[in-house]
Amino acid sequence: MSKVSVIGAGNVGATAVYYIAEKNVDEIVMVDVVEGLPQSKAIDFLHAAPLRKYNTNIIGTNDYADIADSDVVVLTAGIPRKPGMDRMDLLKTNVAIAKTAAQAIATYAPNAVVIVVSNPLDVISMVVLREGGFALKRVVGMAGILDATRFRYFIAEKLNVLPGDVMAMVLGGHGDTMVPLPRYTSVAGFPLTQLMPADEIEKLVQRTRTGGAEIVNYLKRGSAYYAPGASAAKMVDAVVNDEKRICAASVYLRGEYGHSDIFLGVPVLLGRNGVERIIELELTPEEQQQLDESARAVKEGVTNLETFYRPG
Ligand code: LAC
Repeated sequence: MSKVSVIGAGNVGATAVYYIAEKNVDEIVMVDVVEGLPQSKAIDFLHAAPLRKYNTNIIGTNDYADIADSDVVVLTAGIPRKPGMDRMDLLKTNVAIAKTAAQAIATYAPNAVVIVVSNPLDVISMVVLREGGFALKRVVGMAGILDATRFRYFIAEKLNVLPGDVMAMVLGGHGDTMVPLPRYTSVAGFPLTQLMPADEIEKLVQRTRTGGAEIVNYLKRGSAYYAPGASAAKMVDAVVNDEKRICAASVYLRGEYGHSDIFLGVPVLLGRNGVERIIELELTPEEQQQLDESARAVKEGVTNLETFYRPG
């Protein structure tokens, strides 16, 4: 039996449940502090089961105890950003929420793989790791798949090709300093760098970096949730069904890519045990410099965190 819990029944959490239900999962538990919210959404999802053809038991609850024995827990609880805000501006509020959630996960589902979606996710992942005392490979931040899917879409739109045929790698922190890698991006096997002039690629790289903000600016009251929900579901699928999927994700580094004691987006292999391998790509000095720059931005977030947060 596979069980997935999603903490936070807001837009990202509920959308993730929607996509996870259509994967091969037996039970999904949605947890939220707002009474009635996860219950209402769970029942609504069940009503759609005959039409969408899933046979997943979906439970809405306000009680963390119900996440017991989950294989995967997806943390989406937190406030989203508003126009003009950086993901780092969410830090104080979301750290407090993450702390409670991580302690609950450690109590009820200590062996789960925890997928962190709440922003700023590279920093929140660190809080979850410290609070929960989980194995390093069992805490993984969701960002690489989201940033890459945006890059993939922009490329497909520009070249007028099937979006799913575009494969891309985006490393670094989930913020404006993220590092899309055109050299490791291809369309049906053809290197992107042979299909598009460098200045066109650069425009799409920039649009990828601000892809989340583009939506915040339209939405005004929150941030994206369809692509983030789909990205989280993709990671859940990789873990629950032991896919051995290669994607970028935010993981705890111990010297890889020249960085230590930091969560940063790098290519990993995702399977039943979480982060089963960190893959070290060869980077050009310029790519490495961009990654170092991104690591600096994440480290600033952690330093900021330490001004008001102590584990425990
Ligand atoms: C985004 C938010 C969810 O990138 O971080 O849309």
